[in-house]
Amino acid sequence: MTVTKRVWWKDGVVYQIYPASFKDSNNDGLGDIPGIISKIDYIKDLGIDIVWVSPMYDSPQHDMGYDISNYEAVYAPYGTVADMEELIEACHSRGMRLILDLVINHTSDEHKWFEESRSSKDNLKRDWYIWRPAKYDKDGKRMPPNNWRSFFSGSTWEWDEHTQEYYLHLFAKQQPDLNWENPEARKAIYDSAMEFWLKKGVDGFRVDTVNMYSKGTSLPDAPIIDAGVFEQPAPGLFCNGPRMHEFLREMNTQVLSKYDTMTVGELPHTPDPAHVLRYVGSGDKQLDMVFQFDIVDLGIGKTHKYEYEGYQLPELKQVVSKWQKFIEGSDGWTTAFCENHDQGRSVSRFASDAPEFRERSSKMLAIMMCAMTGTLFVYQGQEIGMINAPKDWPIEDYKDIESINYYNSVKARGGDEKALAHVMKSIQILGRDHARLPMQWDASPYAGFTGKKDGAWMRTNDSYKEINVANQTEDPNSVLNFWRKMIKMRKEYRDVFIHGAFEGYDVENRDTFVFSKTKGESRVVVVLNFTGRESGFERPKELGGKWELLVSSAEGVDGTERLGAYEGRIYTVN
Ligand code: GLC
Ligand code: CA
Repeated sequence: MTVTKRVWWKDGVVYQIYPASFKDSNNDGLGDIPGIISKIDYIKDLGIDIVWVSPMYDSPQHDMGYDISNYEAVYAPYGTVADMEELIEACHSRGMRLILDLVINHTSDEHKWFEESRSSKDNLKRDWYIWRPAKYDKDGKRMPPNNWRSFFSGSTWEWDEHTQEYYLHLFAKQQPDLNWENPEARKAIYDSAMEFWLKKGVDGFRVDTVNMYSKGTSLPDAPIIDAGVFEQPAPGLFCNGPRMHEFLREMNTQVLSKYDTMTVGELPHTPDPAHVLRYVGSGDKQLDMVFQFDIVDLGIGKTHKYEYEGYQLPELKQVVSKWQKFIEGSDGWTTAFCENHDQGRSVSRFASDAPEFRERSSKMLAIMMCAMTGTLFVYQGQEIGMINAPKDWPIEDYKDIESINYYNSVKARGGDEKALAHVMKSIQILGRDHARLPMQWDASPYAGFTGKKDGAWMRTNDSYKEINVANQTEDPNSVLNFWRKMIKMRKEYRDVFIHGAFEGYDVENRDTFVFSKTKGESRVVVVLNFTGRESGFERPKELGGKWELLVSSAEGVDGTERLGAYEGRIYTVN
């Protein structure tokens, strides 16, 4: 076991595809697998090594396919298993790999396992899900087994009239949680959700909500932090439970170790680096890497995500630094990402999407991301600088269950105009829908995403005539061509960019972010201006030597220590 072991998934750049919104091939308004295949050369040309497709499995779509009714089938409007086999082949023949989303904390309530489980208390699969009897309050009113709040608002418990018990669902009520304590259920998950696809040549998984499988068995009440409502946030009680590491080790030994795979786990609510290392240390075979959420959680509300509080640049620098450094000297690995299908667009969140600044912002963030340690993840549309939906879209234009349920719950508890306006503002920044708007391919109606006359399943961002792939392919100075160049550079300088040691400087500075990456004799310094004004920066005293400009995101840079608005640069320092 060596610390610097190189494997394909460390140096590879991953591109995440959200099937509903990537490309519609048959003009029904919904993206599909043949649509992905038709754009595979576009992905390859960007410099991508690994394609990750978000859930394309059969599903009633209460949570955009994260509610799976059959792991071994494809959602019919997206295509067929044969289409997936073609996609695997299309990736492999171009030297790319393909990973899928592995959603095994829960299934859909329409999965046949759950249908059996709920059919009677003595059904053989009853114990494959988490059932509990009701509690009764002092007036004899039926109450759920505890006060946990689901991620999508309301209780985590749903009453089942037929068998007179509650079942647990951490997400929507149509997403019952599997009972990982049951060995037969675990075996069925491994066979159906994993081996089925690995045998077809899939190269690994992004593992959904990877730290929630073990919840313990006592399921105690959560402490009250949101007074005035019964349901309380409880991630501290159901994340990282007592058997979590044991389950992941078992999954690795029984399934993953038989194939050459990569796994990247989604690891929310885990702030302690030592704890994260337990998941990703290569000696203890669990996961290859995880997404730790501090960067995308910047500024979120304390009682709920959609009670946005904002943040200052020093906080961003601190979280980047913390999660860049935590693997140093260990045998673990990490990820670099700032977008996915659950987040607002990075340009809108971390820089500026104002028309005069958004291109600069996208390029500056591309520099930051491409210089980071870990496996780099790019989310569809990030490479052309797609931005959040305009602020004048009403709540009716949003479709995501998380946003809508929370908005309605605040309304239902008597939230006044001000409270609702704050939720709306939070959704404008953080809403999951922003990333789910149709991919902007060209300036034709509906951004060239669909040929359907009345448009796509989801409203197209008003900005598509200016921000689209066709425009940017022609323009040598476009965001797209900048990303291509930066991905190439990341590979050329892989030692320092991907594997270097991170050091941040002048952390309290609210305008600029300066950090170095060092590997052996090689060193680069990255300087980023996070403001819409010119800004000076100081060369850190400890970084003497010769500074040479490697790249700048601004045209006509003059080489001085002044950065233009939202400019980023990388220097080699020897
Ligand atoms: C993960 C997914 C998210 C989904 C949830 C439930 O957080 O990224 O989109 O809603 O899990 O599966
Ligand atoms: Ca379609």
